[in-house]
Amino acid sequence: MSQTVLVTGSSGKIGRAVVAELQRRGHEVRGFDRVASPAFPSTLIGNLGDRVALEHAMAGVRCLVHLAATPDDADFMTELLPNNVVGLYHILEAARVAGVRRIVLASSGQVNWWQQLGGDLPVFEHQPVSPRGWYAATKMFLEAAGRGYSEQHGISVIATRLGWCPRPGQEEEIRALEWAHDVYLSPNDAGRFFACCVEAPDTVKFLIVNGTSKPARQTRLDMTVARTVLGYEPAEQWPQGM
Ligand SMILES: NC(=O)c1ccc[n+]([C@@H]2O[C@H](COP(=O)([O-])OP(=O)(O)OC[C@H]3O[C@@H](n4cnc5c(N)ncnc54)[C@H](O)[C@@H]3O)[C@@H](O)[C@H]2O)c1
Repeated sequence: MSQTVLVTGSSGKIGRAVVAELQRRGHEVRGFDRVASPAFPSTLIGNLGDRVALEHAMAGVRCLVHLAATPDDADFMTELLPNNVVGLYHILEAARVAGVRRIVLASSGQVNWWQQLGGDLPVFEHQPVSPRGWYAATKMFLEAAGRGYSEQHGISVIATRLGWCPRPGQEEEIRALEWAHDVYLSPNDAGRFFACCVEAPDTVKFLIVNGTSKPARQTRLDMTVARTVLGYEPAEQWPQGM
């Protein structure tokens, strides 16, 4: 069934892939970002802190895919707090008021960072978290807020713990880190993964789910939930799609 989907962060690395896959599947996609994207000229330009702009973007939307954020560790007070904490508050409230039925949130594999590097593998979604730093802590806040919206407001919420989809400038870093090839997330797989979240059955009330491509050597983030609940099957493996 075709849905009206709002994708925040639609001009970013993952956002562009998600928009392309959702459009390919026939969904009506609306983009929201603070910067324009030549690939998606109709993107609504605005900031997560601008509630009026968010309410305008949210009108008539059934599913929100919330990707806009500071995507890694950065200064807490000037970057993470306004974008990942206050911005999350505004987007969730705007979605609730607009009657959005499903919210897909971008969390991160950095919430269980230390287990991935040193613990028993693979890491499952139900295990206690071990955040890498303040960025990961904002993603734990996001997961917890999403859980609350599901319980309190009856909105279906899916929090996605993503592997690594390298942004421009990160190519050499990921190439040099063998373990990272196990959590690589290609743009094509990211598009498919988020489309599966959008199209997941209405019976999904709240879900935390890992998302990667096929591991190169060893499974670090378990993918059983993605496969069984979302029907997501990774198609690519490091370095495909780089
Ligand atoms: N790429 C990865 O490996 C990875 C891994 C785990 C989680 N994530 C998460 O996935 C999401 C997308 O990451 P990405 O790699 O595509 O990052 P990106 O930086 O390429 O894209 C993020 C987009 O969000 C926009 N944005 C940021 N703050 C905004 C604000 N206040 N108002 C409006 N727009 C704003 C930016 O302009 C950018 O286009 C993020 O939430 C990130 O934390 C990414």
